[in-house]
Amino acid sequence: MIDFDEPIERRGTDCFKWDALSSMYGRDDLLPMWVADMDFRSPDFVLDAIKQRCDHPVLGYTMPSERYWNAVTSWLKRRYEIETTKEQLHFIPGIVAGIAYALLALTQPGDKVLVTTPVYPPFLNLPKGSERTLVCSPLKIENGRFAFDFDDFERKAKGCKMFIMSNPHNPAGTVWGREVLQRVADICQRNNIIVVSDEIHADLTLPPHKHISYSTVSDAAKTNSLTFMAPSKTFNIAGLGSSTCYVADDALRKRFFGWLDTMGVAGGNIFAFAGAEAAFANGEEWLAQMLDYLKENVRFLDDFLKERLPLVKSVLPEASYLAWLDFGAYGMSHKKLSDKLINEARVVLNDGTTFGGEKYECCFRINLGCPRSMLKEGLERIEKMVNGEK
Ligand SMILES: Cc1ncc(COP(=O)(O)O)c(C=O)c1O
Repeated sequence: MIDFDEPIERRGTDCFKWDALSSMYGRDDLLPMWVADMDFRSPDFVLDAIKQRCDHPVLGYTMPSERYWNAVTSWLKRRYEIETTKEQLHFIPGIVAGIAYALLALTQPGDKVLVTTPVYPPFLNLPKGSERTLVCSPLKIENGRFAFDFDDFERKAKGCKMFIMSNPHNPAGTVWGREVLQRVADICQRNNIIVVSDEIHADLTLPPHKHISYSTVSDAAKTNSLTFMAPSKTFNIAGLGSSTCYVADDALRKRFFGWLDTMGVAGGNIFAFAGAEAAFANGEEWLAQMLDYLKENVRFLDDFLKERLPLVKSVLPEASYLAWLDFGAYGMSHKKLSDKLINEARVVLNDGTTFGGEKYECCFRINLGCPRSMLKEGLERIEKMVNGEK
């Protein structure tokens, strides 16, 4: 059994989650439950593959090997029923970069780009930063989970050129069902919209939930989409910058991959290839154990909230390790809540407003990808903070 309870000291490794605290918050005595990576060891089979590559003394330009492509294609087939070949795939050095490339390659300045909020902040920033027009369709909360508001989505889709979808959805790891994805595909096909399906959290779908890859739900979905996948979240190797884009449609693929190759922006580094190959070739058992651990962390959070923080409303993950907490019932302003979390609780969560504006000013995203002892400590600090308010 892998020991996910083991605390790992990450300070001093230049990791964003721990080492950016002083510069961002002016103090470093904070428990960081924000940046979306995990505080678990990356798997030994990945570390060993990287060490082994270092045994050779030349780190020159490197290409993805047949072994890399076989590991990727067999993972996609085994887990998501995506039958593909390396010709339909392109290495991408990171999914945020991949989405930026898709915007630049496949849309024009001024074009309307649709997202559903709250959502991972780069989905909002990339269209704005590339002078596209951002169109937001707010999600609803139904039975404690996010859901599309299809009346709104369909109305907003008119005139849009691209829909950027988080599947599963960040924040809160909502798994989109087949009918939801089919409806998205129909609406997007009718409106001539390219769908970018960001499936970086797919591998972390917590059983019995099941990830459905967007392109597999219908012919419409297959022909109007780019799908991004990666081992980064799955195996806690985000620092390697290693992901893949799958495009089934010939014409769309030629446009996008042609742009990537001409611009020279989608090459990979030696360790990205070695790490991803080792992860996909050897990762099933490690991943199964890690998901069991994460499921227990989600259960721990749920129990804690019910027993000790009953006024906090939550959306719990069906995939991944991110949960959405709404502190609205405490009646505190955004400024007061943010200040108390940092200076009283000394816990860093992600600010809800960055996921879609003022509407989410009482909401925060918490990262559960850590040893349970750290999760407990973070929640107890938050409990103490809000109880001080009574
Ligand atoms: C939905 C989503 N897409 C992309 C990323 C980041 O991907 P990358 O590190 O490959 O740019 C994240 C990280 O949190 C994410 O949640």
